[in-house]
Amino acid sequence: MAKITYCLLCLAVLMIGCTADELKNPLDHQLQTAIKRVSPTGDLDHFILPDPKDYNSIPQDPNNPLTDVKVELGKMLFYETGIALNPKHPESKGTWSCATCHVPEVGFMAGRAQGIADGGIGFGTVGEGRTKMFFYEDSEPDVQGARALNVMNVAFVPNTTWSGKFGSKGANEGTEDVWEGDAKINEFGLEGLESQLIEGIKLHRMVMNPVVADTLGYKPYFDAAFSEFPESERYSDITTAFALAAYLRTLISDKAPFQKYLRGQEDAMSDQEKRGALLFFGKAGCIKCHNGKPLNNPDHFYAIGVKDLYQGGEAINTDQNDIRNFGRGGFTKREEDMYKFKVPQLYNMCQSNFFFHGSSKTTMMEVIEYFDKAVPENPNVPASQIAPQFRPLGLTEEEKQDLHAFLTISLLDKDMHRHVPEQVLSGNCFPNNDPQSQQDLNCN
Ligand code: HEC
Ligand code: HEC
Repeated sequence: MAKITYCLLCLAVLMIGCTADELKNPLDHQLQTAIKRVSPTGDLDHFILPDPKDYNSIPQDPNNPLTDVKVELGKMLFYETGIALNPKHPESKGTWSCATCHVPEVGFMAGRAQGIADGGIGFGTVGEGRTKMFFYEDSEPDVQGARALNVMNVAFVPNTTWSGKFGSKGANEGTEDVWEGDAKINEFGLEGLESQLIEGIKLHRMVMNPVVADTLGYKPYFDAAFSEFPESERYSDITTAFALAAYLRTLISDKAPFQKYLRGQEDAMSDQEKRGALLFFGKAGCIKCHNGKPLNNPDHFYAIGVKDLYQGGEAINTDQNDIRNFGRGGFTKREEDMYKFKVPQLYNMCQSNFFFHGSSKTTMMEVIEYFDKAVPENPNVPASQIAPQFRPLGLTEEEKQDLHAFLTISLLDKDMHRHVPEQVLSGNCFPNNDPQSQQDLNCN
């Protein structure tokens, strides 16, 4: 009898003790409070990315509204080697695409420290095997003096490139006096992405016109996507740029564990990942700069003193005078902007072997160590330019591991391949189509 009473008592205690709140992992309460505290809207929603099919929730250019057929067209053109028609040497014709430097498997970056489009050969497994073709002079290939940016979640980037030079609004209001060269395109008043890609098609030596559209079979897609354009303007750099921009706006990492967590699925992240997130949004101060929706920064540029691409030794056609080394200052010509770079988004960065604009770090742990020590590595950057938020963090080994888990597991959308087409209309090998790449990609 005593036993039974005792057990009933136990049961009662258990039942009272086990209210939903106490079952809740205390880490969740801490983390959600920490996120709300730094969220510009005071809630978790600020960091929730939209479903890529929910066009109404994706920021877009009113001149280029998202439609299914436009996205579908852009999805093929991004990988289409058939429009790579303006090479420096004819042997290279039809061998590269946007995705040559924005390979989906490695966070839509090049798979090497510096991407090579026209003038490159080979692919390897994820783009790491690409080299310059021997008969191209160093000055001839299509390469840039900075690492390619990850184009995921770019709908949330108002001003594109590392210097943010494209786009007429946001941070670029008041910079009209320096809209020169390719930045002159800003005068049309388009969003950064649309502006950049109109220039990007020329820069990357691609061609679109009625003959190309017709030969490759894209004409019906352009007709469906751009019926409001007169036929004489329907198959052009501009409509191609608009279709590419529409596609890129749907490259959203909404299936990453952190996104599921924010939507209420608390078991989408492990305790270690949650401790890492708590550091990101708290003690480690990452959120001070990475506070946009995809953990980028839509408005501010900062100097953290990382090395430039030429200082790594493997890059071609770039040196200490490359305007890209000056970041925002290279565009605005303002002293206060020198060496300040855009704060990039952080989803799927763990798939890359190259971090920062000069590819100076090769693992996420090296990046964490860099922010923890906060010692600028580039002697060209004056101490006065370095962001005050870039200061030693004093993280323990365990904390570094926790932060690493958040960055590499919680921020990884493993399903980005859903955005890659089965084929492109030319039937060409993609993302590259030179003989070596065809072999590497098993296209034959
Ligand atoms: C030769 C390699 C290469 C090719 C080809 C290439 N890109 Fe890029 N991309 C880059 C580099 C490098 C950057 C960073 C440039 C800079 O900041 O000055 C970049 C930046 C971008 C950005 C800016 C992202 C942001 O967050 O600001 C977008 C968008 C983009 N590329 C889309 C494209 C599209 C679309 C194509 C095809 C028309 C393309 N790229 C072809 C190398 C390449
Ligand atoms: C002072 C503002 C600032 C703070 C604080 C900051 N970041 Fe950054 N972060 C940047 C900028 C700016 C870049 C790009 C720098 C460059 O390449 O020149 C960057 C780049 C990165 C990159 C590489 C992205 C890429 O495309 O290569 C990662 C990863 C990253 N930060 C993670 C973190 C983490 C984790 C923390 C906290 C420990 C942190 N950041 C704190 C401003 C900041």
